Amino acid sequence: MSEKIVAANWKMNKDVVESAEFAKELSKKILNVKKTGVILSPPYTSLFNMNEILKDTIVSLSGQNMHFEDAGAFTAEISAKMLNSVNCEYVILGHSERRHVFNESDETIKKKIDKAFASGLKPILCVGEKLEERKSENTAQRLETQYTSAFEGVSEEDFSKCIIAYEPVWAIGTGETATPEQADEAHLLIRKLTEEKYDKELANDLKILYGGSVKPHNAQELIETENIDGFLVGGASLQVQSFYEIIEIVENYLT
Ligand code: PGA
Repeated sequence: MSEKIVAANWKMNKDVVESAEFAKELSKKILNVKKTGVILSPPYTSLFNMNEILKDTIVSLSGQNMHFEDAGAFTAEISAKMLNSVNCEYVILGHSERRHVFNESDETIKKKIDKAFASGLKPILCVGEKLEERKSENTAQRLETQYTSAFEGVSEEDFSKCIIAYEPVWAIGTGETATPEQADEAHLLIRKLTEEKYDKELANDLKILYGGSVKPHNAQELIETENIDGFLVGGASLQVQSFYEIIEIVENYLT
């Protein structure tokens, strides 16, 4: 896995044509990017075409979600096999919008994590506290519950393939970013949980992305912290220019 990662979460934005335009433009811009891993999570309808466009580039594709069952009567859902068939390497699981808008529980997310590992997809597990949890000093407890539930019974080998994204719910799409200190503290906690459950090596190797109103103007101070290994970017990933600027900041930091 690359040293640092910049991932885009487009959510419910961009049709097939807009996605293709973005992919073509970005692939030209990132020809010199060598050290930063780039992941795009477009809507499902764009995955097939984007896989064709991006197949000879450094960009990996990710689903934004998936169901834990293999197939069947689950209207509007998508399976791991379907994501595999369009060459997705990753799948975002437990995004706060899935947790809070679509009421996905830790139990449901756990089933999805297990299915992703069993299907050869690498999960990008999102964890994060709500504003009231931060105010009542329950951030650590919330992160620990989400972490423990997701990785119960997960082997070291599987764990080593996954990425965790710390996304405080109050910072997503609000323009309010966690300070570098707040983000670093949460990332350090996730590393410590990993060291306790697995070992120091896995804890050090784990990629922990920060997400929540990451923009070109705040990416530099965040990437300079010890425990931030990259970003999961929503709003600023919708324009090639702002997304590329964030990639450039990370790439320059590494060189
Ligand atoms: P944002 O979204 O960058 O628009 O805050 C981040 C996310 O939801 O992953």
